[in-house]
Amino acid sequence: MNDTWTPSSWRTRPAGQQPEWPDEGRLDDVLKRLNTLPPLVFAGEARRLTAVLGDVAEGHAFLLQAGDCAESFDGFSADSIRDKLKVILQMAVVLTYGSGVPVVKLGRIAGQFAKPRSSPTETVGDRVLPAFRGHIVNDPAATEEARVADPERLIQAYNQSASTLNLMRAFTKGGFADLNQVHLWNQEFVATSREGQRYEKIASEIERALRFMSACGIDLSAEENLHQVDFFTSHEALLLGYEEALTRQDSLTGDWYDCSAHLLWIGERTRQLDGAHVEFLRGVRNPLGCKIGSSASADEVLELCEALNPERIPGRLLLISRMGADRIDDLLPPIVQAVHAAGHPVVWECDPMHGNTFVAPSGRKTRDFAAIMSEIRSFFAVHRAEGTWPGGVHIELTGDDVTECLGGTDAIADLDERYETACDPRLNARQSLDLAFQVAELLRS
Ligand code: PEP
Ligand code: CO
Repeated sequence: MNDTWTPSSWRTRPAGQQPEWPDEGRLDDVLKRLNTLPPLVFAGEARRLTAVLGDVAEGHAFLLQAGDCAESFDGFSADSIRDKLKVILQMAVVLTYGSGVPVVKLGRIAGQFAKPRSSPTETVGDRVLPAFRGHIVNDPAATEEARVADPERLIQAYNQSASTLNLMRAFTKGGFADLNQVHLWNQEFVATSREGQRYEKIASEIERALRFMSACGIDLSAEENLHQVDFFTSHEALLLGYEEALTRQDSLTGDWYDCSAHLLWIGERTRQLDGAHVEFLRGVRNPLGCKIGSSASADEVLELCEALNPERIPGRLLLISRMGADRIDDLLPPIVQAVHAAGHPVVWECDPMHGNTFVAPSGRKTRDFAAIMSEIRSFFAVHRAEGTWPGGVHIELTGDDVTECLGGTDAIADLDERYETACDPRLNARQSLDLAFQVAELLRS
């Protein structure tokens, strides 16, 4: 099957969305250096993620994939990582407690830097500048120099991913994610909100349940799952040179793994069947995602399934639909029918963010919480009608108290107050929790 595949076979195919590096020699030097650095994740961890995603594909678990649109080199701190983890853990608790279904936690984190752009240039005032492509490539400042692609940034992204991952591992395995800490994950600005109080109620019920089990003589300290969580990482595999440089052959199985993250996904703009991204990712054994936007046909999606998961391994492939609240009802059913009829064991995931972005009169890119929820509700309705499992959600969020998406119970209307994103508008922690409560209800019904 993979007879012609090598970690560099993508180089013979057209690769969209790659930066224009001013000096290819310097890029090659950096890639060679990256190739000697330690892997960020291990093959066995990626296999474990495939296995738990297999449970999702079979309808026995739910996937929560969440994090920043784009991680940033600025404002990178332990606090911001911790706060993002807090909101993801809170959402997972709400989903698990509310639905009784195990939740797989997958961050858009520790590597989510590179951004595809609709246009290679951006007009600022009367100047036409190269587009900002994420901190792994260039700087967003509106000058010609800032926008020059700098390969040293690949190394900085690798280093920041390593320290982010290190901290996440410490937090999730070292006591912070212990269920006895559920109250501590509620940040102050969240706790005062309606969702925060609803969360407090669940947290208290969990505490009571733990005390009850303990009183029954159950040795809770021996139950590892109560004290730590498995947290996996993911990002869009966009810069193929970077991904290739971190691809390693597993000594146990001889298979190739892209060790930059546990799961990689292909973006809506780079999912061409004969393109470099599909070529690269079909050959690594990590679990994969593929975005499915409004232009995707059922035939195209079937061919992607064949190319990316020819062995039909449950948990290997996530189809991440992002059609927009207005279009999902018409566009998703024929795709679900075709994939289901062909017997492909995919995880169906809803990205309710990227089909619902628009520019507000103020010029800010934003999304409306109501549209986000509407796409999720349609996603559930379509899968219920087709007899398939609505396997998960893919959310852009932050633990910070930002005002980037409109609406929610706070009825955010003034985007300028705290608009901080490096790329797309994210849900704040309160909106994220609100979403989790509503998704838990959908799962239950
Ligand atoms: C993203 O997930 O940030 C993104 C760019 O998505 P898409 O490829 O679906 O547009
Ligand atoms: Co985005």
